[in-house]
This record gives sequence, structure tokens and C-alpha cells, in this order.
Amino acid sequence: MKTVSIINLKGGVAKTVSAINIAAVLVKEHQKRVLLVDADKQANTSKFFGLHDEGKPSLSDLLTMRNTAREIIRPTSMPGLDIIPANMSLLVADKQVLLDVQTPQQTRLRDELEEVREDYDFCVIDNAPDLNMTAVNALVASNDVMIPIKIDRFAFDGMPILVDQINRLKKSFNRDLRIAGCFVTIMERNKVNTQGIDVLDRRMIADFPMFKTVIRKTVKVSEMTFLGSALIEYAPRSTAAQDYVRLVNEYLEMC
Ligand SMILES: Nc1ncnc2c1ncn2[C@@H]1O[C@H](COP(=O)(O)OP(=O)(O)O)[C@@H](O)[C@H]1O
Ligand SMILES: [Mg+2]
Repeated sequence: MKTVSIINLKGGVAKTVSAINIAAVLVKEHQKRVLLVDADKQANTSKFFGLHDEGKPSLSDLLTMRNTAREIIRPTSMPGLDIIPANMSLLVADKQVLLDVQTPQQTRLRDELEEVREDYDFCVIDNAPDLNMTAVNALVASNDVMIPIKIDRFAFDGMPILVDQINRLKKSFNRDLRIAGCFVTIMERNKVNTQGIDVLDRRMIADFPMFKTVIRKTVKVSEMTFLGSALIEYAPRSTAAQDYVRLVNEYLEMC
């Protein structure tokens, strides 16, 4: 099982939309068995699949070691795609992990996922815009990091901190952790976006790789979130569906 974290310290950059669609493309186009981990207390990924429940075991019970991964994993409506859901209890669980210094804090998700590594080809983690204990656990459990970026004036906010944190975790816990690359999301064909990409290219090439694929903006994404069906199922010919297929191809070439 290869694990990839979708992360950016900014909200609204399409982390959740990307995690769902990358996972769905891996299942539908490549016949991979995929585990999607919702690591955001907002639980948008869980809600998307109709699997959000404040009362049922979720990622927080895994991080606080009340349940094993197998006890928490739920099937989604898409055969081949399972999920570890999240809910608001992650807010408290994150603090509990932080205070519980008796047990290793950063490796809990990695150790639990280890138990199911034969069941899946890929694990995709949808992260919160945060660097809390949950995000640290996600990064320690990951082989790769993919960073969605929305072009605007503040597109780079938090990037140095994120990269610094990744490098620290690499040193202490996860030597093989790799930034697979950044990719531009919610792309509109206008001057600001086109020039923005030029600037990004120049800045990023020096620091870490950029995926060539750009995810275009389309109303189909918002429709998809209401229907709870990934683009590859709901609108396979839409621009963004094709873009996610291309992005996954690019990623698989590096695996
Ligand atoms: N390719 C796209 N085209 C149009 N809207 C998009 C696209 N990708 C994401 N969005 C919208 O942008 C918003 C933020 O996306 P989301 O995945 O929830 O971001 P994050 O998880 O980073 O906070 C949502 O309203 C979503 O529907
Ligand atoms: Mg999100």
C-alpha cells in the first residue's frame, strides 16, 4: 500500500475535492483498491459519501487507540473504495494525543494502517488546513505528499512552514517521505491565473516539483459534491474529470 497525503495549510484550495477524485480515478480507471482517510474534523469527505456520524467510531478513535483501523473502515458506494471517516471528535482527540506522552504520538496512524496494508493498493489522506497532531500523524504515515494550490495573491501562504515541517518529519520519523509535487486547482482561463502559473513555475522548480496537469474550474465539481458521486462517475467527460485522470497518470508514473 502506498500512502499519499493531500495537504495545504490553506482552506478552499480543493484538498477534499482532489482527495475524493484522485481516489475515485485510482479505483475506476486503474482498478486499484483504495482507502480514503478523512483527517479533517469538518468531515467533508465523510459527508460526501454519506458516512459522517458523530456517534460512530472514526479517525479520532484510531488516534486515541480505542479502535483498530479494521473496526473503523467503512465501504463507500463505490466498490473498491473504503473510508476511515472523521467527525468533530477529532478536535478533542487531537489534544488527547498531544497530552498523552506515555505512548508514541506521531506514529499512531502509520502503525494502525500497517495492519491493513495488504488490503489496499493506495491510501489517500484528505488533510485539514493545519499542522496539528492529526496532520503530523498523516505525514508520518505517508510516502508522498501532493499539494493543491489555488492561484491567488496568497497562494504561497503557509508553504514555507509546510515544507519545513515535512523536512523535519522526514528527519525524525519518515526518511522516505517525498513531496510528489504541487498542482494547480480551480484554474480559470484569465490573465491573473495564467500569469500566476508562470510565477509558480519559476518559484517551484527551484524548491520542489510541479505536476504538469492543471485542474480546471467547472460547475460540475459543485454539482458532484451535492450528488455524492465522484467526477469520473458523474461527469467523466468534464474538464476536471479528465484533468484528475491526467494528474493520477502523472503520479503513477513516479510511483
Ligand atoms: N475544479 C473545480 N472547479 C470548481 N470548483 C471547485 C473545483 N475544485 C474545488 N472547487 C470548489 O472549491 C471549494 C473548496 O474545495 P474543497 O475541496 O472543499 O477545498 P479544501 O478541502 O481545500 O478546503 C468547494 O466549494 C469546491 O466545490
Ligand atoms: Mg477539505
